[in-house]
Amino acid sequence: MRRVYNFSAGPAVLPEAVLEKAASELLCYKNAGMSVMEMSHRSQDFQNIIDKAEADLRKLMNIPSNYKVLFLQGGATTQFSMVPLNLFKNKVVDFVHTGVWSKKAIAEAKRYGKVNVLASSEDKNFAYIPSLDNLNISKDADYVHIVQNNTIFGTKISKLPDTLGKPLVSDMSSNILSEPMNVEDYALIFAGAQKNIGPAGTTIVIIREDLITDDYLEGTPLMLQYKIHAGKGSMYNTPPTYGIYMCGLVFEHLLENGGVEAIYQKNLKKANLLYDTLDGSKMFSGTVRKEDRSLMNVTFASNSEELNKKFIAEAKENGLVNLKGHRSVGGMRASIYNAMPYEGVKALVDFMIKFEREN
Ligand SMILES: Cc1ncc(COP(=O)(O)O)c(C=O)c1O
Repeated sequence: MRRVYNFSAGPAVLPEAVLEKAASELLCYKNAGMSVMEMSHRSQDFQNIIDKAEADLRKLMNIPSNYKVLFLQGGATTQFSMVPLNLFKNKVVDFVHTGVWSKKAIAEAKRYGKVNVLASSEDKNFAYIPSLDNLNISKDADYVHIVQNNTIFGTKISKLPDTLGKPLVSDMSSNILSEPMNVEDYALIFAGAQKNIGPAGTTIVIIREDLITDDYLEGTPLMLQYKIHAGKGSMYNTPPTYGIYMCGLVFEHLLENGGVEAIYQKNLKKANLLYDTLDGSKMFSGTVRKEDRSLMNVTFASNSEELNKKFIAEAKENGLVNLKGHRSVGGMRASIYNAMPYEGVKALVDFMIKFEREN
């Protein structure tokens, strides 16, 4: 068996040490005599697992005590509904529109209220982050929604908008834990686990307590109420137990390796290596504005569709897989999440240089 370098945008690469630990505990978790997969979510063993996962995430992100951490299901997409259903009071939201994921969240929010798009980069197929200075925040906005890292287009918001005191909601599905963030800058953070944290099936929500109220839109299903999940320690129903366990292993692994600051330095090194290669290449170029480049999803292309195809196919033969760009951008995308080792990016860069020489 040979493991490849997997540049998938998600589900994505996980730290090998974590996979090995999970494998070693697969049949029998500690003294439980069973796999975590087989364990009641009401057992003490599982309670310890979820408590430690939460405690470790709190340590990693320095999450203040007035924020709740929820381990939910339904992916980040369910948050596109849960957020308006729970936060809408005036039924107005301000959006920064930076790609497919804001588009989907906008469509969902529109089902429940009014959406104002304050800034958009749709005019250039989302290849940049629009200016977020002096946004015309709506007086009656219940919150402002941003997608902090645009997985498909390869851009990231580096400087947060001034929301004039309105709660800031951030979709961090593809960049959570990739660099230091100040949780207090946000009212609510959500992320599907399957990019930077763990397997698909778990969704992390970090929500300021004052937003957890009984005042949700009429008809909101119990499963979509933050209050229900917060009140039951994420166990209103059977949570995604194995996924939470895996997330916990990843958190532990990050803490053992210097936490978010250390992984950020590694991420910078990886991204710089790849972007410098793109900038020095005559064949390939990055597809987004330099100052808006993502640390996690690097989008690039040659000037020929044929060469792109050839590159992707030959890269695969060389153990560098899932480099095809999203259909809305074309070209290539290398997702270099926390768990992608430097050696993986180095192998990609070496292959790019060789490919350019030979073609
Ligand atoms: C930024 C962002 N938001 C939301 C989603 C949707 O996540 P899910 O498939 O977990 O619903 C994705 C998935 O790729 C994403 O990258």
